[in-house]
This record gives sequence, C-alpha cells and structure tokens, in this order.
Amino acid sequence: MSFIVAIDGPAGSGKGTITKIVGEKLGLVNIDTGATYRCVTLAVINNKYKLEETEKIVNLLNKIKIEIKKDLKGEEQFFLDGEDVSKEIRTPKVNELVSQISHIPEVRERMADFQRNIAQGKNVIMEGRDIGTNVFPNANVKIYLDATPEERARRRQKQNEEKGIQTTFEEILENIKFRDNNDKTSKVAPLKQAEDAIYLDTSEMTIEEVSEKIISIVNEKLNKVIK
Ligand code: DC
Repeated sequence: MSFIVAIDGPAGSGKGTITKIVGEKLGLVNIDTGATYRCVTLAVINNKYKLEETEKIVNLLNKIKIEIKKDLKGEEQFFLDGEDVSKEIRTPKVNELVSQISHIPEVRERMADFQRNIAQGKNVIMEGRDIGTNVFPNANVKIYLDATPEERARRRQKQNEEKGIQTTFEEILENIKFRDNNDKTSKVAPLKQAEDAIYLDTSEMTIEEVSEKIISIVNEKLNKVIK
C-alpha cells in the first residue's frame, strides 16, 4: 500500500519547490507531473506537429520514451528518448504549447496512467493540476496551493534566472494568465480544488512556512494511518 500526498495548484504557486522540500523531509518520492506533459509537448515540437494534428500526437505517445532519473545531487532529471531534456522542457516554446497539449483527452489519460505507474508501491508526494481530483482521487492528503498571478510570475522568473533561462516578467505573467485560463476551463480534468483538499494561499507566506504547514498536515494524517 502506498501513502499519497497530492499537491495541486496553478503555475508558480510553489508546488515544485514545496514538494521537493516536503518530500525530502518526510522521505516521500517526489513526482513532478507537469514535466511529463512538458516532455510530450517537446516531442510534438521536435516532430513539427501542429496542435490540430491530434491523431499524429496520439500516435506519438506510442513511440516516445519518458524516463525520470536522479542526478548526483538527487535532483530529478527528465529524459526523452534517452536525451536529458530537463532544461529544454522549461523554455518558452514548450510553455506556449504545454497547456493545450496536456488537455488532449488521450494525452491526459496516458500520462495519468504513467503517473500512477511511477507511484505504484511507493510513498509519494505528487504535484500537478489534477492529482487530487483525477490521478489519485483517494490520496491520503490533498493540498491546493494558490497565490496571486503577479506573485507567481515573480517566483517563476526568479526560478528561470537561477536555471539560466532568459524570460521577461511580462512574458511570464502573460503566459501564466493564459495557462490559468486554459487549465481551469479545460473540458477534461480542469484545474480545480478537490472538495476534500486543504486550500493554502501562499502569496504572503515564505517557502519555510508553507513547507512546515504541509509537513504538520501530513504528519497528523500519518499518525492516524499508523494508529
Ligand atoms: O506544473 P507545470 O507548469 O510544469 O505544468 C505544465 C502544464 O502541464 C500546465 O500548463 C498544465 C499541465 N498539467 C496538467 O494539465 N496536469 C498536471 N497534472 C500537471 C500539469
């Protein structure tokens, strides 16, 4: 049996950073589901398929191989057909298309299965948009992280700077608002808070405060599971 912590929320809400910290502190395997959609999107771009070419995109899912490996620092690296694409999947060309690609029903279905498979038999903390509502509706703990679009764009820009990815604040804010709208109005598994998720507005909270809050929620639940 596995213990599942689902962290959902919009782009830049802090899911990635928080999931990594909480996962390390509690010994949970950390899974970034957005990166799996980013790998599919990169494969679509590399094959020069258009968004409307759904059949070709769906066929592509049978051909590509996505792998997650840890580097020496314990950071997750994403591989597409054997090539390390961890950096390329965060670039603007992927940002622009990933939300639409991720909402093709067959892509969602396949990726959700892939995500469930990686989690099998493990205790995981999984971050995404529909983990608590669709991938693991019976997750032991569900958290919905949120923050204002401006604060989220500011965080994303800082992250990009650290990774050496060139983007302006305006570019990021515009992309965040576009993806918010796209993710929330999707016909399949839209971004929304699960009824039994705990809502956390992190706009005014530090990373440490958010992590501690989640750790205490998870610990409380773990104690109940053990008893
Ligand atoms: O978390 P992220 O910004 O890397 O996610 C990239 C895109 O993937 C996002 O715009 C929506 C989509 N996504 C999704 O639809 N479902 C998930 N579980 C994770 C991401």
